[in-house]
Amino acid sequence: MDISRAITLHLPKRFEVGTGTAARLGDWAPKDARVLIIAQPVTAGMIDKLGLRGQITVFDGVHPEPKDTDLEAALAAARACKPDLVVGLGGGSVMDVAKLVAALWDSDQTLIEVAGPNKVAQKSSLLAQVATTAGTGSEGGIRALITSSETSMKIAVESPFMAADIAILDPELTMSVPSAITAATGVDALAHCVEAFTNINAHPLVDDYARMGIRLAGQFLRRAVQDGSDAEARAGMLLSSFYGGLCLGPVNTAAGHALAYPLGTRAGIPHGLSVALLFPNVLGFNAPARAEKTAEVLTALGLPATDDPETVVAATRDYCNTLGIEMSMQTHGAREDDLPAWAAEAHGIRRLMDNNPRDMSVTDIEAIYRAAY
Ligand SMILES: NC(=O)c1ccc[n+]([C@@H]2O[C@H](COP(=O)([O-])OP(=O)(O)OC[C@H]3O[C@@H](n4cnc5c(N)ncnc54)[C@H](O)[C@@H]3O)[C@@H](O)[C@H]2O)c1
Ligand SMILES: [Fe+2]
Repeated sequence: MDISRAITLHLPKRFEVGTGTAARLGDWAPKDARVLIIAQPVTAGMIDKLGLRGQITVFDGVHPEPKDTDLEAALAAARACKPDLVVGLGGGSVMDVAKLVAALWDSDQTLIEVAGPNKVAQKSSLLAQVATTAGTGSEGGIRALITSSETSMKIAVESPFMAADIAILDPELTMSVPSAITAATGVDALAHCVEAFTNINAHPLVDDYARMGIRLAGQFLRRAVQDGSDAEARAGMLLSSFYGGLCLGPVNTAAGHALAYPLGTRAGIPHGLSVALLFPNVLGFNAPARAEKTAEVLTALGLPATDDPETVVAATRDYCNTLGIEMSMQTHGAREDDLPAWAAEAHGIRRLMDNNPRDMSVTDIEAIYRAAY
């Protein structure tokens, strides 16, 4: 935790936050720009809130937890309309695809060629991100996650060319998110902050973003779940998610996300829910290595400060339960027979596992899966 350790942080060029800010996209967009809006059927209905004029094409074919086939379809739409501006209007699934489309539509590089950090060679158009869920913080970061249809593994692409030119956080656009998705995506935001905060590469600059994100989740997540039309709570969670996104670039997540990935890619459990199901047990496992920070997380969530692993697990599991999350992997379609293979797979995601503050063996991971089963 040396404050003089070098660190790089990429931010969106412009950031609009608050009720009604969606309409500012139209004021910002270059006049007569050809615009491609990447969306889903549920978010395409919000396009008229963006105040955009000019030549607009809509691609609303992004599936949740997008695959390379979703990206290919979106790229084909872009190559047909040659946009000056790509707009991501959706949750993490849509915004991740929008990042890659804005970078790649006018390039020969393929997804495989740009996988990993800093492989993208150029940017093809401007990028605007309008978040409609509060969870991934994808609008604030430079990473995109696409599932390979061949291996079912998440491919991570990271590039400063995927930083948004404008990111918009308008709470009105998240009010239609059902309470179960609000809860799960909210725990994803919280987990980004917590996994960066307790990370082996934690840095004071990022710790303070993490602290703000965790505190906001503690203050507003329950309210946003209970009353989706609570603008203050929705805005608070969008900020929590945004701060989580800022944590991901320079520090990133750790075991929590590595363990969550097979639940998404193998059992089709949505990302936020996958993360939430494992959040208590991973925090408990890491508590001995990050005693003070673990207690700080619990306090920010309004839970009794403790670093005792079992109490940490029980308290945070109860916290997730009270958000209405059914905290059992089995209930969401995981099969016990699959757990050993998932443990081996998660253990192999070294880009995240190597960030964890405590070494986690395949046996440890399997034990965590069984505890969360
Ligand atoms: N780029 C990153 O840094 C990063 C970080 C974490 C996760 N991710 C990725 O993001 C994806 C998950 O994103 P997510 O959790 O935001 O979920 P999502 O984008 O898949 O959205 C969840 C569900 O909510 C619906 N939805 C979205 N906005 C809505 C609205 N306003 N009203 C009603 N329904 C709405 C979607 O159609 C979908 O069914 C995963 O692919 C994950 O790997 C990316
Ligand atoms: Fe996440």
